Amino acid sequence: MRRLFFLLLLLFPCSLFAEDGSQLWLRYTPVDKHIAQQRTISLQAKDQTMQLAKQELESYWRGSSISLRLDKKIKKLRDGYQIKGDGTGVEVVAAEPAGLLYAAYHLLRLQETGADIEHLDIEEIPDYDIRILNHWDNLDRTVERGYAGYSLWKWDELPKQLSPRYEQYARANASIGINATVLNNVNASPQILTADYLEKVKALADAFRKYGIKVYLSANFSSPKVLDGLSDSDPLRKEVQAWWVAKVKEIYTHIPDFGGFLVKANSEGQPGPQDYGRTHADGANMLADALKPYGGVVMWRAFVYNPTEEDRAKQAYQEFVPLDGKFRDNVIIQIKNGPIDFQPREPFTPLFGAMEKTPQMVEFQITQEYLGFSNHLVYLAPLFKETLDAETYSQGPNSSVARITDSSLGNHQKTAISAVANIGEDTNWTGHHFAQANWYAFGRLAWNHQLSSEQIAEEWIYQTFTDEPNFVQPVRQLMMDSREAVVDYMMPLGLHHIFAFDHHYGPEPWGDRKGGRPDWMPWYYHNADTVGIGFDRTKSGSDAVSQYHEPLRTLYGDIKSCPENLLLWFHHVPWGHTMKNGRTLWDELCFRYDRGVQDVREFQKTWDRLEQYIDAQRFTEVQSKLKIQAKDAVWWKDACLLYFQAFSNMPIPYELERPI
Ligand code: GCU
Repeated sequence: MRRLFFLLLLLFPCSLFAEDGSQLWLRYTPVDKHIAQQRTISLQAKDQTMQLAKQELESYWRGSSISLRLDKKIKKLRDGYQIKGDGTGVEVVAAEPAGLLYAAYHLLRLQETGADIEHLDIEEIPDYDIRILNHWDNLDRTVERGYAGYSLWKWDELPKQLSPRYEQYARANASIGINATVLNNVNASPQILTADYLEKVKALADAFRKYGIKVYLSANFSSPKVLDGLSDSDPLRKEVQAWWVAKVKEIYTHIPDFGGFLVKANSEGQPGPQDYGRTHADGANMLADALKPYGGVVMWRAFVYNPTEEDRAKQAYQEFVPLDGKFRDNVIIQIKNGPIDFQPREPFTPLFGAMEKTPQMVEFQITQEYLGFSNHLVYLAPLFKETLDAETYSQGPNSSVARITDSSLGNHQKTAISAVANIGEDTNWTGHHFAQANWYAFGRLAWNHQLSSEQIAEEWIYQTFTDEPNFVQPVRQLMMDSREAVVDYMMPLGLHHIFAFDHHYGPEPWGDRKGGRPDWMPWYYHNADTVGIGFDRTKSGSDAVSQYHEPLRTLYGDIKSCPENLLLWFHHVPWGHTMKNGRTLWDELCFRYDRGVQDVREFQKTWDRLEQYIDAQRFTEVQSKLKIQAKDAVWWKDACLLYFQAFSNMPIPYELERPI
């Protein structure tokens, strides 16, 4: 029996072991005692974070001796680091303890990805000061738009009992440079600021601290009224201001390094300063003043829109641009990457670069609210980079969203970048094994937005699965193709928000709830009629295009020059319009939907060929999810084409797969 086991082990080394994905990309093998005795990891410090750096290297580093040193004088390094290795030893210097920890993970990453770990000359300085996850976790442990189980935070057990996953979470974040987290949903319960909950928040902050992670909270603007019965929460009233000053003081007595507040105000029914005839600046500044003495910041969201006649895509710009220069210097305006809502493809939000005096930060969404939840394999680095690299022309050429937000083009006190987390209680953390790559990619890009999507994918595959080239190459390609595939089978050519009402999983371009808000109805966005399809955002329509700087205004505004992948975002286009490849718009729409489906079928074939390279559990789980994805892609194609065909009145080209 035993013999048989070993024979099987020799023949099928990978597939015998169950692998649940709980280890994420952190699969370092403990270093052999022999090697450990031959090298030293030296550090003169008691600081917990630095000790942790030492400990990680002691446990897993297979290279030569390392000396870790803190030099507070190297100011410009921020929480970055320098690493030098001459073949006989490695020297690591950082200006902050967290820098040494990040350096340790950098070294381990090099080791795990097969790089030279002896000859090193590295200097890494993060692009953003605050690299933050936003958890949309409710206090009852449901997660808004979360597809990986319940919240990690076990509020009923806290503060007494600490789940081991708190540290694992912090370690995973530290390994990719994430240094901050907002624990609760932007649709915030005021309860989070009660004394009871602050004790619990403190316990989490204490667990995260040595990993260099600061805790932030989403604050409900009505907290003074709801929690302590003030007559209102008007930001210009002394009593309300005093309430926040006292609350912030209370928070800092528990959590001396508390980061600050994230606020969703006057958006989708949330309370805010406009309830009292005040502005976003009045609201944000009140909180900023309370936080200022402690170095805290306010991340004030620009995701605001109301059911008015005005195109929803224009409203953030209209509300915020007039307030430029009116915010305190510890307020950062947090702006979603696109002007509507995390769609498979959007142009960048024109507010980026439109407020020269005000720090701005991007909000991405890692959780796949509009990208097939945790069922679809969609690698998001290309989407993140599309926004970061987008040229705004706000200060002429070279004014990308990345350069505006990382302060290359301004002199802002603190820079930040955020993303809505996809993490939950699931064993594999993110629901889909490949969704781990999106958490990873956000962290890596928040540290260095110039990394390529391919490089990030490759290092993630090496660390998460294997370095076998026959696996790495096709999987990297699959990941790289996955974002365009989802755009094709859901919403090609600039279509957007034709999702099923509320849950945002499947298609519902026909959706029309009687009495519902028009800006929540799919027809509001696709505008299909017998003439054509698409949202006219040019001068003849909503003129949202005028919010972009030249030359984009002209480029997007002219149907001839508008990039075809945004065509129906900016134009209402006749069905017979000739596309660049000579097809009619209708035919092209059909081809794109079909291409998305065929791409997913290819992903399945690619994956099926890779069984021999990885463990059986993850292989099968990904395979099953791809089956769901393929079925959903067909559902999307058939639903959208059959629905739009009722308007175009044109046949689906015969060479394409027939609707079921
Ligand atoms: C989307 C999402 C909501 C969320 C909102 C926000 O609309 O569907 O669940 O609350 O974004 O970002 O505030």
